[in-house]
Amino acid sequence: MKKAISLLLASLLLLAACAGVQAEGKAMLYQSNFTAGTDGWVARSMGTAAVEPVEVNALKVTGRQSDWNSAGRDFDLIPGVEYALSVQVRQDDVDSADFMISVAHSRGGVESYENLAFGTAEKGKWTLVSGAYTPDAYDNYILYVETTGAPTLDFVMRFFRIDAPQGTAEAANHPDLEIPMTTTENGEIPSLKETYASYFDFGTCVPGMQARNAEAMAFNLTQFSILTPENELKPDSVLDVAASKRLAAQDETAAAVHFDAAKPLLDFCKKNGVKMHGHVLVWHSQTPEAFFHEGYDAGKPFVTREVMLARLENYISGVFAYMQENYPGVIVSWDVVNEAVDDGTGKLRKSNWLNVVGDDFVNRAFELARKYAPEGTLLYYNDYNTAILGKQNGIVKLLESLMADGTVDGYGFQMHHEISFPSMQAIEACVRRIAALGLRLRVSELDIGIPSTSEADLAKQAKMYAEIMKLMKSVSSQTDAVQVWGVTDNYSWRSDKHPLLFNADRSPKPAFLAVIRPEAVQ
Ligand code: G3I
Repeated sequence: MKKAISLLLASLLLLAACAGVQAEGKAMLYQSNFTAGTDGWVARSMGTAAVEPVEVNALKVTGRQSDWNSAGRDFDLIPGVEYALSVQVRQDDVDSADFMISVAHSRGGVESYENLAFGTAEKGKWTLVSGAYTPDAYDNYILYVETTGAPTLDFVMRFFRIDAPQGTAEAANHPDLEIPMTTTENGEIPSLKETYASYFDFGTCVPGMQARNAEAMAFNLTQFSILTPENELKPDSVLDVAASKRLAAQDETAAAVHFDAAKPLLDFCKKNGVKMHGHVLVWHSQTPEAFFHEGYDAGKPFVTREVMLARLENYISGVFAYMQENYPGVIVSWDVVNEAVDDGTGKLRKSNWLNVVGDDFVNRAFELARKYAPEGTLLYYNDYNTAILGKQNGIVKLLESLMADGTVDGYGFQMHHEISFPSMQAIEACVRRIAALGLRLRVSELDIGIPSTSEADLAKQAKMYAEIMKLMKSVSSQTDAVQVWGVTDNYSWRSDKHPLLFNADRSPKPAFLAVIRPEAVQ
């Protein structure tokens, strides 16, 4: 086995060495939305200026005494690459003011400056400041947004954005390294989490039973840097209906929670310093019917919108309070709402949530999650069939409304695919469309079904995995994680379609090697 893997790797590496870097068109490399803080932007001044996230996805600069007093951020720029820079600015104090994006760079400890992009903002109007920049070689680069002739003006900025030739900058930031190997019961094989360490987390879901299997978890530790309980943090595992029913006799808004099912995986992650992605706070499926009814009795009428929102608040605050007390820092991100958009119409799907709360239930859920989540927790909306245009339009509309609220951080693409569907063009189009919104991204539930385990089908499956990984590498600066939905085919939710990276004995499939070195797959 070890020899076979080494041979395959050797041929993959040879192909990889021949693979060039794409350079047509421009792709977004970075965008600040300030939804969850300053995103690394700091005040540049002699000490008086300050920056703070405000309003909807904007950063405010105050306390300025000189034009150069500004918001600035370090960027890893590559000499010779032509970048497009843009930012929206607004000021509410003078008839008009001139703004610039500038760069402070240093070489051998000597700092110098260039003004790169220009715009004039009329009072109260969001104004685009844009330009291009091809850096010379310096030791470091700080991009900052400043004024000319308005040294004390307060202003707000949003959507600071850098575009670069597609693939170039991302690839140059992540030079091909030696493939990191790890020892498993099948000998020495490459490690997914090490291979992707400079791009994003590589993870999987773990079924409850596997979380108690020491051998399986030891293997997972070598391969994955983020784990998600497959079912154990869903409302039907977390909501304690009996206890809630008892409490409801006094207070209809109560919601009792318990975590017996998720504990083994939570304990594992805490003990081994592995991140967890939480799935899921609000879903139409796998949620007890009683949650929506008076007295937690499915035979009684639905509760009112007010009671349901109060139950939701108690549920969400209960989840975060428990995690904070028992597993602080373990869950780094959550699917706040899952699959709210209807496949056919692109509108919100019919569900108890829509029926009892109304068509703002997703917005309210995110508002509550933001209220109770520890600072820095990334909040995701998660859905499937994003590549299908009608549904995609509905998803984008929903995301835009959450972005306007300033409550969402990212979008999770489930990607439960078949080798024949959807097309890679459709998958790439939906990833690029949602990336252009400026949200964080994750592939939350990747698996690719094949009709048989013939060599031809396994090769097609490997190719699609490779294409998806290349795509996600091209947007790696916005991507938090790629997670497969299971480890071995026999424990997949659709095991009949052999959709994962490992065989039942945890030996790697061609798809695994394709994920390790996607550029080598033709
Ligand atoms: O645990 C019970 C067991 O006691 C009982 O004997 C058995 C009888 O059917 O059911 C077992 O529960 C099953 C559970 O998985 C745990 O294995 C449920 O029936 C089964 O419906 C459930 O399926 C899960 C499915 O969500 C439910 O909708 C899958 O494991 C899980 O992979 C799947 O995950 C979803 C994501 O949450 C959201 N995106 C789609 C994805 C795939 O459907």
